[in-house]
Amino acid sequence: MKRILVLYYSRTGNTERMANAVAQGAKINDNINVKLSFHIEPQELGDFDAILVGAPTYHHEMPVDFKNLFEEAAVQGISLKGKVGAAFGSYGWTGEAPKLILEIMKNRFQMQVTEAPLLANYLPSEKILSSCRDLGKRIAENLLNTP
Ligand SMILES: Cc1cc2nc3c(=O)[nH]c(=O)nc-3n(C[C@H](O)[C@H](O)[C@H](O)COP(=O)(O)O)c2cc1C
Repeated sequence: MKRILVLYYSRTGNTERMANAVAQGAKINDNINVKLSFHIEPQELGDFDAILVGAPTYHHEMPVDFKNLFEEAAVQGISLKGKVGAAFGSYGWTGEAPKLILEIMKNRFQMQVTEAPLLANYLPSEKILSSCRDLGKRIAENLLNTP
């Protein structure tokens, strides 16, 4: 059984729509367990094979909850090395948050980051939601193909 976490923050529902689609796409069969959540304790992060984070951009930043989560995970020495990481989110005009998260995943935690950030300008279109489902599916399929 492979475990995927889809962790998200959303104030007005745009990133939440994306997170729902990512989680839906990831649930490809009974060998994949998907947890969709807006909160996780740092020590729980180690339980997952892939961590997919949905982060809208506010004031050029990632949500403070995620900043604290990564900081706390680092302080506690939680190893995420080799786990798959991806990030997505809705934005208005700059959209830094998913990129910042991918950098932390890659540079601080040595996670495997192969997907570019998936962004939606405000309300995600049907096309973007389909890309979100594809992202979840691709990551789940890759996990099942990895011993
Ligand atoms: C107070 C405020 C600050 C914002 N700052 C940014 C920003 O710095 N860069 C950006 O791309 N979008 C910014 N936005 C736009 C949001 O990212 C956008 O509304 C997004 O769809 C919110 O996603 P959510 O519905 O998942 O919360 C801002 C919006 C508000 C209300």
